[in-house]
Amino acid sequence: MEFNILRRVDKIMIGIGNDHAGIEIKNAIIEYFKENGIEYKDYGCMSGEKCDYPQKAKEVCDDVVNGVLEKAILICGTGIGISIAANKVKGIRAACCSDYYSAKLTRQHNDANVLCMGGRVVGSGLAIELADVFLKTEFLGGRHKRRVDMITDMEN
Ligand code: RB5
Repeated sequence: MEFNILRRVDKIMIGIGNDHAGIEIKNAIIEYFKENGIEYKDYGCMSGEKCDYPQKAKEVCDDVVNGVLEKAILICGTGIGISIAANKVKGIRAACCSDYYSAKLTRQHNDANVLCMGGRVVGSGLAIELADVFLKTEFLGGRHKRRVDMITDMEN
């Protein structure tokens, strides 16, 4: 599968983490990372393991806010639990997406730094397309920055 990466991401690291319900699409996204030369860090959990999505969200999101990762992808069964947990970490703007338009617009308008997906909601092909558009789409700034700043103010 070939993707048109508009902005190469080879100088930054993308984090990916999942619970036991997200292993299949996590593995598909890792194949996409490898095929496109995207540097990544896999926080697990791995095949055969079970883990709690809040803990996984915290591990990955802590590394987004401390600068180890530029962005991250988190996967649980629905994408909802792990996005709720991710959004508890200060500095995280996590979006749970299962359609292309939302995955693109959450970068353009919300400057989302974490994409969450449901391994029991989307198939591997769609998950890769969502990851691809999320990673290559830039924040538009302008009036959207003012609104994102309002969200940041709510955290402080
Ligand atoms: C695990 O069974 C499931 O609850 C979890 O993956 C997720 O869907 C929670 O939101």
